[in-house]
Amino acid sequence: MTVYQNATPLRDTVIRSEMFQVPSRYTLVKQVGKGAYGVVVTALDSTTKTKIAIKKNKKVFDHGPQCLHMSLRVLRELKILAHLDHPNIISIKDVIIPSSYEQFTDIYFVTECMETDLRNILRSRQPLSDGHVQFIMYQLISALNYTHSASVLHRDLKPENILINSDSSIRLCDYGLARGIDFENDPTMSTTYVQTRWYRAPELLLNYKIVSKQADIWSAGCIMAELLTGQILFKGNSPVDQIEKIVEVLGTPRHNEEIKGSPQGIEFISKLKKTTGISFESLLMGANPLAIDLINKMLTFNPDNRISAESALRHPYFVEYFDESTASTCSTKFDFDYESSLVDVESIKLEAYHTILELNGYSTREQQEGTDTTSFDELKGDKGSKSRRSSLFKKLFEHLNSKRIPQVISE
Ligand SMILES: Nc1ncnc2c1ncn2[C@@H]1O[C@H](COP(=O)(O)OP(=O)(O)OP(=O)(O)O)[C@@H](O)[C@H]1O
Ligand SMILES: [Mg+2]
Repeated sequence: MTVYQNATPLRDTVIRSEMFQVPSRYTLVKQVGKGAYGVVVTALDSTTKTKIAIKKNKKVFDHGPQCLHMSLRVLRELKILAHLDHPNIISIKDVIIPSSYEQFTDIYFVTECMETDLRNILRSRQPLSDGHVQFIMYQLISALNYTHSASVLHRDLKPENILINSDSSIRLCDYGLARGIDFENDPTMSTTYVQTRWYRAPELLLNYKIVSKQADIWSAGCIMAELLTGQILFKGNSPVDQIEKIVEVLGTPRHNEEIKGSPQGIEFISKLKKTTGISFESLLMGANPLAIDLINKMLTFNPDNRISAESALRHPYFVEYFDESTASTCSTKFDFDYESSLVDVESIKLEAYHTILELNGYSTREQQEGTDTTSFDELKGDKGSKSRRSSLFKKLFEHLNSKRIPQVISE
């Protein structure tokens, strides 16, 4: 195998006892996020003179043969983020080349830096006007519409995965759980790594074998209700409690055909005490009737009756923002086929290494027919995306001043 020496030497910096090995052009500033497998810091890029964020995905290949999906999810996030190009989705600006294949254990993504995330805004209890909610939700649904058009499901929508600036512009991040459209029987959903319960769609709670884009719409509906009230809509303390809280509000489905779930899931619902539910009009008292109408369409028990992202953008609630040009779709579907040959940790590591080099402009493997070796320059550079973005979203940003959030908590 060809060994590529990193052209740029890496410098060690420790921040909150976490070692970062990144090129010296990046000066680390502070930690802004920490999860079980990743740490996010802000940094200054001396080359572009901009503030950026670096996500360190730690010990990506150390999860053992039983947990291949844990290694795969970082590679998948990298490939998906490199494929997507939308103003409301975080974009990868750089992926750091490891110093050698042998020492390759961590994967660092460099992205644009955002001021905070929606969870921090909600926690700070700043009142959000209906105008804020319209603008935030329009951007979120645009991001979902684009993601779904690339045949990708996000699957982990929640306030902390929605990054926001004080001008209320948002970017969706954390595609670590993303998968293809309508996939079946995902072992990771029922075992170790599942989407945050409060935003999980009823069909997922009931173990329906087909997961579709409508599950993301459910999560977005829960987030919209939370933005309007400041309260988590369905705050279940276990999967059973979660589904019971949903049924308390939506009412018991009238027919078993309305319930999408495993046979046990369907039986569970049919044995619950019958209830007619509580209307969103009374739960979201005083909210804009158009917001309530949209929430009713996003939070249907049966995913088949749930509004799509494409239709939601055209809902009258967004009349101020919608125009065909901002409902952009992805020109190519994301192809998950590369995963079929990744059968062990070593093959995932090799694929990740090749992907990082290719994104940095190196051609690393024999050019096979259909192999995509697009680099950052081609992906993010000279295809007019910047000017397209600014014209696409000009209309949205005309409204920024009126939608400014008074104070943003970024610490
Ligand atoms: N580009 C960014 N700018 C500012 N803050 C960010 C950025 N990216 C991430 N963050 C912060 O870091 C947090 C964690 O980021 P992210 O969701 O990507 O990682 P994670 O939840 O640890 O990922 P995973 O679930 O894949 O392990 C976010 O909730 C947000 O607060
Ligand atoms: Mg996250």
